[in-house]
Amino acid sequence: MIKFKIIGDHRGSLTPLEQYKEIPFDIKRVYYIYNTKEGVVRGNHSHKNLEQLLICLNGSCIISVDSGTSKKEFSLKSRDEGLYIGNNIWREMYDFSSDCVLLVLASDFYNENEYIRNYKDFIDCVNSKY
Ligand code: TYD
Repeated sequence: MIKFKIIGDHRGSLTPLEQYKEIPFDIKRVYYIYNTKEGVVRGNHSHKNLEQLLICLNGSCIISVDSGTSKKEFSLKSRDEGLYIGNNIWREMYDFSSDCVLLVLASDFYNENEYIRNYKDFIDCVNSKY
């Protein structure tokens, strides 16, 4: 988890994010996930070569990250922190509140060819690196 600063005054709050400061990679793409229906699980993939930072701008959700050897769950519910996910990590996103807005900053353009969408292929890929 990466903690961001909150610049607040009597008018409200502002959180700045700068490449190579709060964000440890070149940002080539930004997208956001919202209107997520109850019970939905998103993600279910890893990336061969992509870094991402996930920030929950509104509401809450749970992100599970799996390296192939260990698994951890993170609860995202705060605008002043982001979850960094490097390459070769299987992720699942669930328990979205109806008002959840999940912002994703990505290190590269969208490329379906660098996704691994089958869990067994992911495990084979992890094992091939040892
Ligand atoms: P998908 O990978 O299923 O989303 P999630 O990781 O949240 O489960 O993507 C949904 C669709 O959107 C799929 O057809 C691919 C497309 N897409 C883009 O065109 N550009 C993007 O940057 C992303 C993330 C997805």
